[in-house]
Amino acid sequence: RILILDFGSQYTQLIARRIREIGVYCEIHPWDMDEAAITAYAPRGILLAGGPESVPLPGSPRAPEIVFSMGVPVLGICYGMQTMADQLGGKVEGSPEQEFGYARVDIVGKSDFLSGIEDHVDDHGQLSLDVWMSHGDKVISLPDGFQIIASTPSCPIAAMGDESRHFYGVQFHPEVTHTRQGGRILSRFLLELCGCEALWTPSNIVDDAIATVREQVGDAKVLLGLSGGVDSSVVAALLHKAIGDQLTCVFVDNGLLRLHEGEQVMAMFAENMGVKVIRANAEEKFLSRLLGVTDPEEKRKIIGRTFIEVFDEEATRLQGIKYLAQGTIYPDVIESAGAKTGKAHVIKSHHNVGGLPDDMAFELVEPLRELFKDEVRKIGLELGLPYDMVYRHPFPGPGLGVRILAEVRKEYADILRRADHIFIEELRKADLYQKTSQAFAVFLPVRSVGVVGDGRRYEWVIALRAVETIDFMTARWAHLPYEFLEKVSNRIINEISGVSRVTYDISSKPPATIEWE
Ligand code: XMP
Repeated sequence: RILILDFGSQYTQLIARRIREIGVYCEIHPWDMDEAAITAYAPRGILLAGGPESVPLPGSPRAPEIVFSMGVPVLGICYGMQTMADQLGGKVEGSPEQEFGYARVDIVGKSDFLSGIEDHVDDHGQLSLDVWMSHGDKVISLPDGFQIIASTPSCPIAAMGDESRHFYGVQFHPEVTHTRQGGRILSRFLLELCGCEALWTPSNIVDDAIATVREQVGDAKVLLGLSGGVDSSVVAALLHKAIGDQLTCVFVDNGLLRLHEGEQVMAMFAENMGVKVIRANAEEKFLSRLLGVTDPEEKRKIIGRTFIEVFDEEATRLQGIKYLAQGTIYPDVIESAGAKTGKAHVIKSHHNVGGLPDDMAFELVEPLRELFKDEVRKIGLELGLPYDMVYRHPFPGPGLGVRILAEVRKEYADILRRADHIFIEELRKADLYQKTSQAFAVFLPVRSVGVVGDGRRYEWVIALRAVETIDFMTARWAHLPYEFLEKVSNRIINEISGVSRVTYDISSKPPATIEWE
């Protein structure tokens, strides 16, 4: 396994995902990880990732010295290369000027690391690579034992290496897809130089997780809050395979789910797979608590509180449960670790409604704790969950509660559910569903005029929202074809009585958020 030390770059998680895609297990830890912990982790190789700080400035972070004395290959990327150079006796020059974007680097020396990997060969036999750069500072003199292996006019030391120790530094980013040979470069480092084997595959991950869960829980009983979302569904499938009937799921139907969602969850897990699922039909409880409430944050709180109450009631009714399973995934773990040490770069603004209070008398089982979302999806498929479920758009915990821009009423929820269903169904039919990251309908509590026959009717408005995004922090509205929007609008207005108008949301995030409240 590989250790990645994080210096705060937004690319660090991407590096980890790339390494795992190659089939090698890795973990991200903060740059000031304890030396004893590094020794205990016993990595086959270490990656020093990028970061926003400047090596020449006093107080900027450095890698623990032990990194360079463990006898394993080390690869420094961007800031990681610069701190490596500095710590081993080279020199880094600060620069307020940024070099950002595409660059072509010439391969200037032989190395175990880059030789044989290139994009171009010119008439003089000069080999070069297309890479992505994003830096200001640069290494201007090499540490002892190093040679230059790649270079550009503006960055003469674009890659450096010490062949005897297999220490390498690259100023460019091999983890981004713009660096075309990035995958080969990382594979070379991991598989050939560190001697890792590509064993981190979906089927191995599943086997490993099953063994771990069995060992952890023995013959004790486990409870899981199943929401129908990707993470809890994969946990359910995994635990069912690992411990069968020792698992009980509670599915809380809050009345704010998508059309037929409750039935689908029950059909999939209870009927098809034979998982023990208790469906708590709590629609009335949720709706009565939400009566007269229009403030979005207040709605979220009520829905969250009521969820915990209902879940708790079901849990107390069950006897002898020792463990609570949760669908925590690796980015949640990294983020909360970052938040504790004050190094969080991404602050999650929403709490999942699935969050339960700390004082519940259960021990936790979190079988996805080490996995990225794409890995969770892959093992979901491996476990036999349908593609459409595993690659479903995200759905917020408060559900339709925050998509009704008014007091939540059953009548509104029913209209919204049907409109949303038509939109999603058409997206799937037109092969546009997977091209959008999230799409849904919103209920607007305004009366707009429509002419039906000879009469004028004042009816509700439905807004459609579809976005494209990588990280849900920023998003662009999806440029769906006009003909497609026209078809969806016609269907909604014709098929749903009470709706006279459909609009399409063309706001980007920021400043508009993805949800409407
Ligand atoms: P916004 O609206 O903040 O949404 O741009 C970003 C992502 O978060 C989801 N979202 C929520 N998820 N509870 C959740 O579990 C919430 O209260 C909540 N609000 C927004 C939203 O659907 C989008 O994917």
